[in-house]
Amino acid sequence: MSESYDRYRRDLWRDKAEAYRRSFAGLCAHPVPLLLDAVGIGAGIGVLDVGCGTGSLSEAAAARGAVVTAVDAEPAMVRATVDRLPAGRPVIGALPALPLRTAGFDAVAANFVVNHVGRPAPAVAELRRVTRAGGRVGVTVWPQPAPPLQRLWDEVIAAAGVTRPAMPGPDAADDFPRTRDGLGGLLRRVGLTNVDSRTVTWEHRVDPELWWSGAAGGLAGIGYVVARQDAATVARMKAAYDRLAGVHLDSTGLLCLPTSALLAAGTVPGTD
Ligand SMILES: C[S@@+](CC[C@H](N)C(=O)[O-])C[C@H]1O[C@@H](n2cnc3c(N)ncnc32)[C@H](O)[C@@H]1O
Repeated sequence: MSESYDRYRRDLWRDKAEAYRRSFAGLCAHPVPLLLDAVGIGAGIGVLDVGCGTGSLSEAAAARGAVVTAVDAEPAMVRATVDRLPAGRPVIGALPALPLRTAGFDAVAANFVVNHVGRPAPAVAELRRVTRAGGRVGVTVWPQPAPPLQRLWDEVIAAAGVTRPAMPGPDAADDFPRTRDGLGGLLRRVGLTNVDSRTVTWEHRVDPELWWSGAAGGLAGIGYVVARQDAATVARMKAAYDRLAGVHLDSTGLLCLPTSALLAAGTVPGTD
């Protein structure tokens, strides 16, 4: 089950770096400063950005003077990060088995990545493995129930009368509840200590056409649904989106909806 889930989630990102950078990357960038704080990023800290995407976290860590290594399963994502971070070290590799040595980093951060793996517990154990004793591991994921921004896609699907295609799920034995306590529990389960888990809330503002372009470009769960519809159904979904999103435009024409993320960080026990 988890292998087909991994394949399905990884396919969502294949050759999508530019579409992601233009659309959903701005949303995922919001909690980056808090995540960097949670894992103690500052000058001289050796940090691993796991599932680096198009490089938001790597760039922010480098701006703080950290020594950055960026890893992603998708080569196009790694290339996009290198473009923003010429001094960083790029690595292609996938959770739950990163091609990196044990205890090689002071801090490891995975921003909206653990929600894309079929076996979250071994994935977080791998984040712990590559972090030195006393170092910090930090992750973000989207919560359930979904916040209003993400629920907009459910409303579009329902309004357009679309049946969701079957999607594989993560391995139940290695999964966790998408709640603050659930994410904190996942970190404790792999032996991290001093775990701090919280909900971060904000209002996301984005050009509504750019936001739709992420879905139309096949990104994330909504992209998976859109990519499996015929042209007439996609047009119906877009019309539903325009109508539903139109209610949430601010005075400058930007889509503006509340959202939230779960952010948790913990310490690798022992001293180095
Ligand atoms: C939602 S994006 C987040 C990207 C980036 N962390 C950010 O904040 O913009 C998820 C990223 O995780 C990567 N990814 C998915 N599954 C992965 C895995 N098993 N191992 C490593 N990276 C993975 C994807 O290629 C994608 O770049």
